Amino acid sequence: MKNMLKVQDLWVSVGDRKVLKGVNFSMEYGEIHTLFGPNGAGKTSFMMTLMGFPKYRVEQGKIYFKGEDITGKDVHERAHLGLGISFQRPPTVRGVTLKKMIEIIADKELIKEEISETVKKLNLSGHLDRGLNDGFSGGEMKRSELLQLMVQRPDMVLIDEPESGVDIENIALVGEAINTLLGKDKVKDQKRGAIIITHTGYILDFVNTDKGYIIIDGNLVCGGNPRDILSEIKKHGYRRCVECR
Ligand SMILES: Nc1ncnc2c1ncn2[C@@H]1O[C@H](COP(=O)(O)OP(=O)(O)O)[C@@H](O)[C@H]1O
Ligand SMILES: [Mg+2]
Repeated sequence: MKNMLKVQDLWVSVGDRKVLKGVNFSMEYGEIHTLFGPNGAGKTSFMMTLMGFPKYRVEQGKIYFKGEDITGKDVHERAHLGLGISFQRPPTVRGVTLKKMIEIIADKELIKEEISETVKKLNLSGHLDRGLNDGFSGGEMKRSELLQLMVQRPDMVLIDEPESGVDIENIALVGEAINTLLGKDKVKDQKRGAIIITHTGYILDFVNTDKGYIIIDGNLVCGGNPRDILSEIKKHGYRRCVECR
């Protein structure tokens, strides 16, 4: 069977900086992978490149999604193919309400009642008429990102640091939302694939993931059991990974 996602020898620059240096990566349909790594290692760059944001220039290498070469495709084309992203720092969009955004991006097979149920579950009913992320707290912003993914119904999601800027009480809510998002989709009858970036690893208390990797200086190293990796990082920091490399 084809991989859901396959990345071959990916080299990427942003500005005058090389951010990815020969990344190889693959995952099966419905798998959940976790990326760890110190600040500035290239985690966000990896996701933004997978999604196709033009600031991230692919110098070399290929990206295949569901067997199709998407390396040269635009963001909207990748979204139509079933790739979705939740940003580490989502932008504020004044003048476009959360409600309007949901109307625009929602999968047409999704019925209205299901959408409002999801909005309620994520505790965002009071935010529908506000500008997107306008004055939202860290937790509200992350929940709004996950809501948008839930209504888009992508086949695979890229989730960048879902716990960043979220206070401890709210991490459980974000974790539950991710579990719902990654559960079996009623309409599509399949599980979503996911890559979750975490700096702290807190999210692993709520979400079970299949495999983990560490990114150090633009390269993936030390693939393995995500919980083992996290406990090594907790014990030794990222120093060991740098030495190992
Ligand atoms: N527009 C840019 N111009 C120059 N360097 C950038 C730009 N955007 C990101 N970088 C740099 O690329 C490196 C990787 O960033 P990033 O992928 O955001 O790391 P992470 O998500 O792992 O913290 C960092 O050193 C960052 O400062
Ligand atoms: Mg980042």
